[in-house]
Amino acid sequence: MKLLVTGGAGFIGSNFVHYILGKHREWKVVVLDKLTYAGNLKNLEPALQEGRCGFVQMDICDRGVLEQVQGCDAVVHFAAESHVDRSIEDASAFVRTNVDGTHNMVQACHQARVPRFLHVSTDEVYGSLGEEGQFTEESNLQPNSPYAATKAASDLIVLAYVRTHKFPAMVTRCSNNYGPYQFPEKFIPLMIAQAMAGQKLPVYGAGLNVRDWIHVSDHCSALDAVLQRGREGEVYNIGGGCELRNIDLAKRILRALDRPESLIQFVTDRPGHDLRYAINCEKTSRELDWAPAVQFDEGLAQTIHWYRDHQQWLDDLRSGQYRDYFQKHYVQRAKTFAQ
Ligand SMILES: NC(=O)c1ccc[n+]([C@@H]2O[C@H](COP(=O)([O-])OP(=O)(O)OC[C@H]3O[C@@H](n4cnc5c(N)ncnc54)[C@H](O)[C@@H]3O)[C@@H](O)[C@H]2O)c1
Repeated sequence: MKLLVTGGAGFIGSNFVHYILGKHREWKVVVLDKLTYAGNLKNLEPALQEGRCGFVQMDICDRGVLEQVQGCDAVVHFAAESHVDRSIEDASAFVRTNVDGTHNMVQACHQARVPRFLHVSTDEVYGSLGEEGQFTEESNLQPNSPYAATKAASDLIVLAYVRTHKFPAMVTRCSNNYGPYQFPEKFIPLMIAQAMAGQKLPVYGAGLNVRDWIHVSDHCSALDAVLQRGREGEVYNIGGGCELRNIDLAKRILRALDRPESLIQFVTDRPGHDLRYAINCEKTSRELDWAPAVQFDEGLAQTIHWYRDHQQWLDDLRSGQYRDYFQKHYVQRAKTFAQ
């Protein structure tokens, strides 16, 4: 099996590469990644050293992807602009990468007759829930953020190619991931990094938004199951069955790191902030014999441990561009809120 993984230098993509190479000793992987601010070759270091993983630096919008996908047995498509807050500031890169880039990948794979294409999407395409209910694969697409809208568009492009061209693709929609190698602009690593540094933890609004958390290794095992046993043209929901309010999660992280709750700083809420996500993944469990294996408490403790052990990785990311972004986005918001 020769697998091409787009966005494999990012958080979930790099975890997936490690998972696949560990599980399937005979498989080879090529990572295709532009290396944006979110891509980090360090995430792939162990795999690149081991020899069954190649790397191509390329934009998924580049016509050259056609040559790269030729001869592959499957393509797993992670590459995307992925941070909601950035999409609120400027969605151009989201439209370009998530919509045009996905179309370019689909077109190239169709042309090269790649036998299997797995499009990695998100539960955010379904929009927001009230206090009750769960998203199923039949739920309407009602994306609220520019990020979610571009992911919904990309899902529809993939599914349109399935209907029109019998393109052999599956779409997965997963809830919020956490685990090693996650860029520290996302909620859990941001809270851990701030707590470790003894700095304020910025929490939107009153912290009442609820997310359904899944450990990244469980997402990877689900993707592996879909890749091998999923039915073409189907959508599969993936979730961890662990709903938590942001405020409660921030407090848990502070407790685990022995820091005071006074470090929590409520900041002006994100515009259009989805209240609650909860995902029903019975179809994936039933059809593909898959279930999440990591208990949240255990996964969170391991993740905190990982960030403590990888201070240098964190420091490298939090310098330069990230620092500027972090200052602008969170520190200024916190000031506005306080005024
Ligand atoms: N993080 C989550 O909780 C979550 C949940 C469900 C689904 N997803 C989806 O999973 C995928 C991966 O998410 P992530 O959190 O690992 O993202 P990430 O931001 O950590 O990584 C994205 C990767 O894509 C690369 N990339 C971006 N634009 C590119 C381009 N134009 N060409 C080539 N490479 C490009 C980046 O360099 C980076 O390596 C995304 O499609 C996201 O929508 C994420």
